[in-house]
Amino acid sequence: MKAIVLRAPGEAALEQVPEAKTMGDHDILLHVRRIGLCGSDLNSYRGRNPLVTYPRILGHEIAATVAALNPLHPEWPEGTDVTGSPYTNCGQCASCRRGRSNACQFNQTFGVQRDGALAEFIAVPADRLYRASLTLKELCLVEPLTVGFHAAARGRVASGDTVAVIGCGGVGLGAVAGAAFRGGAVIGIDVDDSKLATARKAGAAHTINTTTADLHTQLSQLTGARGPDVIVEAIGLPQTFRAAVEEVAFTGRVVYIGYAKQEVAYETRLFVQKELDILGSRNAQPEDFRDVIRMLEEHRFPVDDAITHVVPMDEAPAILAAWDRDPAHFGKIMIEVS
Ligand SMILES: NC(=O)c1ccc[n+]([C@@H]2O[C@H](COP(=O)([O-])OP(=O)(O)OC[C@H]3O[C@@H](n4cnc5c(N)ncnc54)[C@H](O)[C@@H]3O)[C@@H](O)[C@H]2O)c1
Ligand SMILES: [Zn+2]
Ligand SMILES: [Zn+2]
Repeated sequence: MKAIVLRAPGEAALEQVPEAKTMGDHDILLHVRRIGLCGSDLNSYRGRNPLVTYPRILGHEIAATVAALNPLHPEWPEGTDVTGSPYTNCGQCASCRRGRSNACQFNQTFGVQRDGALAEFIAVPADRLYRASLTLKELCLVEPLTVGFHAAARGRVASGDTVAVIGCGGVGLGAVAGAAFRGGAVIGIDVDDSKLATARKAGAAHTINTTTADLHTQLSQLTGARGPDVIVEAIGLPQTFRAAVEEVAFTGRVVYIGYAKQEVAYETRLFVQKELDILGSRNAQPEDFRDVIRMLEEHRFPVDDAITHVVPMDEAPAILAAWDRDPAHFGKIMIEVS
């Protein structure tokens, strides 16, 4: 079968690889239809993800069709359109034992620690699959949106909460939509007006462009000087990591999704004085997948604004190279596999 193989950093190619096979009794063979790319794929392409070894098949945002019935799983008949969770969980680590397998210590994500889904066929365990009344492009958007939905869940966002999301890129947009889906009044924050326009369509009641407005002044005005009840950081910069703690309300919740690439220095007094809940958020849980599917089925997300490029599989190497040269020019890229 054909697959997009990353031979080494910066070297992606369409290649023939051995046909995918079901390994476990509970695997379902899928015919891959569309794959979305996100910032972590760009990182892998650039050789900046220490968890990736080469050669590696990319791809973890999946829209696919069941290719063959597994007789042990009649609930997944051939021809069913599905999306899938790209994670694994060991069942033994502290996270798994606590029912938080999204943060499994030994997780292996498709396209990162193991070969991914940018291939004609993949095998996925039945309990990782989700069906929905969605188009292929919507199915392909489910996984990237779950990351932000999980952050909104970690922040226990409920109606009556004001939620500021710093960074409205691929991941932050899901947090905007997730917080709005849970009834929060959302403030989207970014440096790019086009990202903020999409954030408004995804449920942000207000937006702040921090290149033209002062963050503290704006948040004070919007929250009666108290600050947001919840702040989600979805960039990974030291200054926005700090801003979350500085701007959040007393007894508020700070949720970090962004991976900071440098050390962050804090005024830790604020953790104590404000009695903050400071939470990490990683990957997503099954209920996050179900919530995203419900939101998309209700047409509450601007699917076409979020997707900027759709290309056939043989153009994947070229678009990866173009994305590497000029990332600001790209939103969600989708590869049509078949
Ligand atoms: N926790 C997880 O499970 C998980 C999963 C995937 C990605 N991530 C992390 O989430 C972060 C965001 O990923 P992404 O794919 O959305 O990236 P992205 O580049 O698509 O989005 C970043 C956004 O931040 C904006 N931005 C940049 N500097 C800013 C600033 N100073 N103030 C306000 N906005 C600013 C950009 O305009 C962009 O819209 C990364 O750190 C990534 O590693 C975490
Ligand atoms: Zn992704
Ligand atoms: Zn585990």
